[in-house]
Amino acid sequence: MSGVNYTSLLLQLSSLLQGETDVIANMANMTSLIYHNLPQLNWVGFYIRHGDELVLGPFQGKPACVRLKRGRGVCWAAIEKNQTLIVPDVHAFEGHIACDSTSQSEIVIPVLSNGKIWGVLDVDSPIRARFDKTDQSFLERTVQIFQNACHLK
Ligand code: SME
Repeated sequence: MSGVNYTSLLLQLSSLLQGETDVIANMANMTSLIYHNLPQLNWVGFYIRHGDELVLGPFQGKPACVRLKRGRGVCWAAIEKNQTLIVPDVHAFEGHIACDSTSQSEIVIPVLSNGKIWGVLDVDSPIRARFDKTDQSFLERTVQIFQNACHLK
């Protein structure tokens, strides 16, 4: 998206997370940095995998569903596919879980620990088809920085 300095944001994230291994603090700062610097977002947050459930982690935006059970929704679909998932129109995605009714499009990036899916970064927008390949590569870089900074278990 024009007007966004992705390189500067990645440097800011690296310096925020540098030398800090506290996972909650790093998730909190990362969601805040993304939420306040990428335009047209209404929700940015982490869900952490506990077996067959995803449990809400630090986020920015309105209060959200706490537990997402396996088998439904965009977050679990990204986990099953083991890759980033862009949904241009959440209303056209069967099983989408609407935590905030203003959400129109969504991108979910898996977070890995030792090759296994530890959780996801979920980003929502009130604009249809808000997310493109540039957002995908930027957000995947943020997740890599996060994975490298934290000692996830
Ligand atoms: N839409 C997600 C649920 C999480 S909220 O968007 C914050 C899903 O379908 O898995």
